[in-house]
Amino acid sequence: MDKNVAWKRIPELRNILEYHNKRYYQQDDPEISDIEYDRLIRELQDLENQYPDDDLASSPTSRVGAAPLAKFASVTHPSTMLSLANAFSPEEIIDFDNRIKRLAKVDCVDYIAEPKLDGLAVNLIYEKGIFIRGATRGDGITGEDVTSNLKTISSLPLKMRQDSGKAIPSFIEIRGEVYMESKPFKKMNSRRVEEGEEPFANPRNAAAGSLRQLDPKITSRRPLNIFLYNVGEVKGIRLSSHWEVLQALKSWGFPVNPLIEQAKDIQGGIFYFEKIGKQREALPYEIDGVVLKVNDLALQAGLGAVSRNPRWALACKFPATQETTIVKDIIVQVGRTGALTPVAIMEPVNVGGVVVSRATLHNEDEIIKKDIRIGDTVIIQRAGDVIPEVVKVIAAKRTGTEKEFKMPTKCPECDSEIVRLEGEVAHRCVNMSCPAQLKEHIRHFASRGALDIEGLGEKVSAQLFDAGLIQDPSDLYFLNKDQLLALDRHGEKSAQNLIDSIKSSKTPLLDKFIFALGIRNVGERTAKLLATRFGSMENLINARIEDLTTINEIGPEIAQNIVQFFHEPKNKAIMAKFSKAGVEPQKKAATANELLQGKSFVFTGTLANMPRNTAKEIVESLGGSIHSSTTSKTTYVVAGSDPGSKLDKARLLGIKILSEEEFLKLIDR
Ligand code: IVH
Repeated sequence: MDKNVAWKRIPELRNILEYHNKRYYQQDDPEISDIEYDRLIRELQDLENQYPDDDLASSPTSRVGAAPLAKFASVTHPSTMLSLANAFSPEEIIDFDNRIKRLAKVDCVDYIAEPKLDGLAVNLIYEKGIFIRGATRGDGITGEDVTSNLKTISSLPLKMRQDSGKAIPSFIEIRGEVYMESKPFKKMNSRRVEEGEEPFANPRNAAAGSLRQLDPKITSRRPLNIFLYNVGEVKGIRLSSHWEVLQALKSWGFPVNPLIEQAKDIQGGIFYFEKIGKQREALPYEIDGVVLKVNDLALQAGLGAVSRNPRWALACKFPATQETTIVKDIIVQVGRTGALTPVAIMEPVNVGGVVVSRATLHNEDEIIKKDIRIGDTVIIQRAGDVIPEVVKVIAAKRTGTEKEFKMPTKCPECDSEIVRLEGEVAHRCVNMSCPAQLKEHIRHFASRGALDIEGLGEKVSAQLFDAGLIQDPSDLYFLNKDQLLALDRHGEKSAQNLIDSIKSSKTPLLDKFIFALGIRNVGERTAKLLATRFGSMENLINARIEDLTTINEIGPEIAQNIVQFFHEPKNKAIMAKFSKAGVEPQKKAATANELLQGKSFVFTGTLANMPRNTAKEIVESLGGSIHSSTTSKTTYVVAGSDPGSKLDKARLLGIKILSEEEFLKLIDR
C-alpha cells in the first residue's frame, strides 16, 4: 500500500477496532465474527510494521500483541498506594467524621461516597496522555508490572481523550479496581469446568488470577473490567476536589462508577451506605461496602495518614457473610516455628461466593472458649480477605455424639514431645528437625515476601525434602538438574526453570533475605528495620542484644531470638553454606539511590523511629536533599510529633505533608 493511503487507513482501522472492542467486551453485543476481527487486526499489524508512527503504544494492536512473560517485573509506585481503615457500624462512621472535624477545626465536611468493589487495586501511569505502565498494588510501595495484561481490558483507554474537559496532565498516576462482573464470571467458570479446568472460587480471585498470569493472550480472553477512583501523583494540572478528579477522569474517557455520589455531610454518607446496602444483591458485580472520601483535596493532604490508612477516607463494610456448616474433624498442623495450629475440617459450604471447607481454630484456648467439638454444627464467617473463622457453635443442634478435641501430646509429624511454654498460647513440637517444621521453613524461604523463588511452592519443597535432596534452604543452591529430573512430575523444562529461578535468587535484597531466614518474631517489617540499621549480614550476625534494642520496635525478646538464632551451630552451618553457594544479599536494589532524586525534604517535629540525622542520611543516600525551611520548592514536609510552624507553612503552600509512617514507607523501611 502506498504511504499516503496507509496513513489514512491506519487511524481508520484503529477507530474501527476500538468500536468493535467496545461492542464485544463492554456491550456484549459483537457485530462482526472473530475471524473478521482477526483479519482487521492483522491488516493493521501489517501496516504498522511497514509504517510505524507515534501512536503505536496506544493502538488496538498493542492490546493483543504482547508475548508471554517469564516473570513480572517489580515496579515502585511513584507515590505510595495506601489502603483503607474499616468501619462496621454507623457509630464508627460518625467517629471518623468527628475526628476529621476536630483535626480540621470545621463544623461540617463534605464527602464523596463510592461503592467499594471487591477486585484488585491497580496503579496506572499516563505520560502526556499515553498509557505507559500499570502495576498491581503489591505492598503499596512496589507492585508487579502488569501493563500488557491491563492493555487487554478494552474499556481502559490507552490514550486519554481530550474533549472539552480537563487538560491532559504531563504525568498522572490513576488508581482503580480491576474486577469481573458476576454474570460473565459464572459463564467463564462453567466453560472452565466443561473444559476440565478448575473453576475460580469467586470473581475477585478470577480477576486477580487473570491479571496476574503471564500470558496476555489468556488475559485478553477473560471478561475483565475496570473502574478508576483516585489519582496519585499529578503533574501539569491542578485539581482541588475529589469530585473534580472523578469528572476529569470521566472526561478523559476512563470508566468511573456511575453510582458514585456527593454527600454534603456524614448523614448523607450513612444514608448512601444504607441505600447501596439494599442495592447490593442487584448489582452486576460484587461489592463489600462503600468508601467515604473527604472531597476537598487540600483538606485530604492536611489530614495525612496513620500507618497505611489515610485519615480522609473510610471503608464502611457490609456485615460479614455467615453460613452454617458441620465440623467433620479437627486436625493439627505444624508450622515453621513448631507451633501446632488446630484446623476445623468442615462440610464445604458457599460463604458469600467462596467455598469454604477449613477454618483455623488458632489454638487450644480458643477451642475451649468456644467449646467447639467434632460433629458440631457451627456458624462460620468470612469477611473480605480474612481466613474463615468459626463464630459460634449452635449448641441446640447437638445430638450427644459430638467428640471433644484433645491437643495431641506427640507431634503428628515426627512423634516428638509437644510442650506448651509458660506465657504462650501455642503448643509446640520441641524437635528442631521435625520434618513438618523443616519443610515449612523451606517453603517460607522461597515464598513471595521472602526470596520469591518461582516454582518452589509447598508441594515441590516437600517433594525435595522427602526425596532427601534438601534439609534446609541453603541446600537449594547445590541442587542440579539431573536430581530434579529423577523426581516425579519434573520434566526437562520445569527442572531447568526451577534451577534457573533458584540461581536468580542468589542476590536477594538484604531485608528479604533476613525475613526468609525465618527467625522467630522477625516479620517483613522487622527485617526491613534490621537491614536498614545493619546494612549487611555480617553486621547483623555480629550484633549484640544492646545493639539490636537501639531500634525502637525491637525489644529484648526479639533481640534475644535474633542473637540466639545466629549462635545456634546448625544455623551457623547453614549461613556458611549460603556463602559457599555464592548467595550474596544486596543492601538495596540497583536503582534505589535514584528513588528520591530531585525531591527536597523538610523535617519538623520529633521522629519516633530514628534520629533526624539518620533520616537525613537515608534521604541523601537515596538522592534526595534536606532543607531547613519550607518553600514552594519543597517536595515533602515530614511531620513528626509536636511539629512546628514549618507544618503550617506547608499547609499554606499546599506542599505534600508526610506522617512519619508515610515517610518510612516512602524510603522503603
Ligand atoms: S480508595 C487511600 N476507592 O479497597 C485510598 N478503594 O481497602 C485507597 N477499593 O486497595 C483506595 N473500591 O482495592 C478506594 N471506590 C474505592 C474502592 C477502593 C474498592 C479497594 C482498593 C483498596 C482497598 C482498600
